[in-house]
Amino acid sequence: MGSSRMSKSLSQIVLPVAGGTALALSVALVVANLDYGRSKISSLEQRVEQTSLQAEAARNKASEEAAVVAELKAKVAEIQLAAIENATGGTNLTENAPRKDIAYGLGRAALTEEITAWDVDVLPDGRGLPEGRGDVFTGEEVFAEKCASCHGDFAEGVDNWPVLAGGFDTLADKDPVKTVGSYWPYLSTVWDYVHRSMPFGEAQTLTPDETYAIVAYILYSNDMVDDEFELSHENFPDIEMYNTGGFVIDDRPDREYTRWRGEPCMKNCKSAVEITMRATFLDVTPDEGGESRMDHTASENTPTFVASTDSTNTSVETETLEISALETDPAVVLAGEKVFKKCKACHAVGAGAKNKSGPQLNDLMGRMMGSVDGFKYSKAFKAAMEEGRVWNDAELAAFLAKPKAYMKGTRMSFAGIKKEKDLTAIIEFLRTTSN
Ligand code: HEC
Ligand code: HEC
Repeated sequence: MGSSRMSKSLSQIVLPVAGGTALALSVALVVANLDYGRSKISSLEQRVEQTSLQAEAARNKASEEAAVVAELKAKVAEIQLAAIENATGGTNLTENAPRKDIAYGLGRAALTEEITAWDVDVLPDGRGLPEGRGDVFTGEEVFAEKCASCHGDFAEGVDNWPVLAGGFDTLADKDPVKTVGSYWPYLSTVWDYVHRSMPFGEAQTLTPDETYAIVAYILYSNDMVDDEFELSHENFPDIEMYNTGGFVIDDRPDREYTRWRGEPCMKNCKSAVEITMRATFLDVTPDEGGESRMDHTASENTPTFVASTDSTNTSVETETLEISALETDPAVVLAGEKVFKKCKACHAVGAGAKNKSGPQLNDLMGRMMGSVDGFKYSKAFKAAMEEGRVWNDAELAAFLAKPKAYMKGTRMSFAGIKKEKDLTAIIEFLRTTSN
């Protein structure tokens, strides 16, 4: 009982306390929430403000930079223009080249400066050398600074870099030491080479005077001059190189040199150069197939080249054919005459027709195959003659349609006539041809 009272009285005390605390806590929580909310809002507001400030700054910066870019672009364009003007001597390269009285009106004459920049070679007699001078002492300094790292202080070569001095009298050895001193025949080569391509990796940075000095030093390293020596464009041709006489022309008769140096053979030449055959007649380019075939029948005015075994008749043949009999349709015969252009390179017809690379074709109908006097027929045609075969419409049509199929082994290089109409026409035409 006491405990229940006790617990009651405890609960009387504790509960309100707990309740009060809970109330206080929840109030505090609300307040804190409010506070949190407020501070959060204000910090968000701050952030927004900050961000827009930053954005503004960024915008300003961007437009500033854009201005700089535009400025730079303008400058680049300006420089490019100036460079173009400089390079062309005021000529505008984007415009068409001015018409000149030369073949194509292209390009412009090279400027003197451009030619000079390329024209740096030096010849053995000293031609091409610029004016200048340099002594051994200066040369030693320049060499130590710019060349010794690879070629050694005394031009003796570091590691495997080229040796520039010494090696005299080793040229006949199994392993000759070929240096400027022992091997090079001309001093001009030394000057030109050094001036043009050394120091390795920094070519063409040497002035003429530095080059003269270095070359003087290389001569000194080879014991070819004393330490007082000064080399210049004036005394340059006087320097004798050790191996000048070592280079000889190999004119032994069994070597090629004589072949190109002798008098050219001008005996037994042909009197004239002639075109004897057209590739189309030789069937190098087949009539059929392919994109760009030639249409022989269409080109009426194509000159026909004469394949000639007799030299009296070598000109372009344009004779009009004499037509002896006109029993058939003249239009067909005329068409046949056109088709005959395909044969003309090898066959003649009409008055005085001679054998060319093929036999003359007068009075063909009823003629014995392979029977023209003085013409060297193939075995196939000789056999046909021995068999007593004779040309008629049917035989001729078959032969001309496919010569090689009809007469196995014939020497007539002609692909054949494909169109029926052309075949009829040429046969009608050949019916009319005679002396
Ligand atoms: C970085 C290394 C280097 C430097 C520095 C250098 N050279 Fe060379 N030099 C070479 C090499 C590599 C060759 C061979 C090049 C070749 O055969 O194509 C060479 C070749 C030569 C030769 C020809 C040798 C021969 O017999 O074929 C001469 C002469 C020469 N150098 C002179 C000079 C001079 C003078 C300088 C200083 C102005 C110089 N070099 C600086 C690397 C160098
Ligand atoms: C590339 C030269 C060439 C062309 C083109 C050519 N021929 Fe021939 N022709 C010959 C040769 C070569 C012979 C002799 C063949 C042999 O001996 O095998 C021959 C033989 C002949 C013969 C046989 C003559 C005989 O005496 O028995 C006739 C017919 C003939 N050709 C007609 C023609 C006709 C028609 C054409 C044109 C449609 C033509 N040829 C085109 C070279 C040619």
